Amino acid sequence: MKFFLDTANLADIKYWNDMGLVDGVTTNPSLIAKEGGSFKSIIRDICAIVEGPVSVEATSVDTQGILEEARTYAQWSDNIVVKVPFIKEGVSALPVLRDEGIHTNTTLVFSANQALIAMKAGTSYVSPFIGRLDDIGHYGMEIVSEINDIKRNYSFKTEVIVASIRHSLHVLESARLGADIATIPASVLEKMFKHPLTDNGLERFLADWEAVEK
Ligand code: E4P
Repeated sequence: MKFFLDTANLADIKYWNDMGLVDGVTTNPSLIAKEGGSFKSIIRDICAIVEGPVSVEATSVDTQGILEEARTYAQWSDNIVVKVPFIKEGVSALPVLRDEGIHTNTTLVFSANQALIAMKAGTSYVSPFIGRLDDIGHYGMEIVSEINDIKRNYSFKTEVIVASIRHSLHVLESARLGADIATIPASVLEKMFKHPLTDNGLERFLADWEAVEK
């Protein structure tokens, strides 16, 4: 499974990328706003660090506006993927962008049927928002399983990005379901490293090693 980092924070991206764990990055307007500074320069800085796909969200809600934004962002770097909201105007833009060779990530997807439509329309990536579904009492991971089945049944080339990840179990369940990608907040990736038995075990080994004649 590929790991994308779900952040626009340059320090986090550099840190985890240097560890070889970052296959791509996803951003959204909220994540960009959190960092402050110029949108374009943040995205260009991310693209200078990460070799893999970097998702940048279009904020227009009409097809023409989405197309224009996508064409602009695609010029910023070779690895730009344009995030398109799952609305009719966004879906209409998907085949046009595919034919122009611009990669897309359909975002704000909350059902398998929405993902099916986006895949049929030629999206490169589709992002089901798991945590936000869990928040309202739906089992978010269920739609990842459904989307995987649909993708397999019809051999769609679209890659599934499990998004809105809130904790380590979301990543574990994504991997068990064979999701293509999980886009992970840096705080969750940090927690995935932790196990008290690892810390205790290392402490014990190092203490015992002190007693060994070298
Ligand atoms: C990624 O593509 C999404 O924008 C992000 O995962 C949303 O996460 P949130 O629900 O925690 O805002």
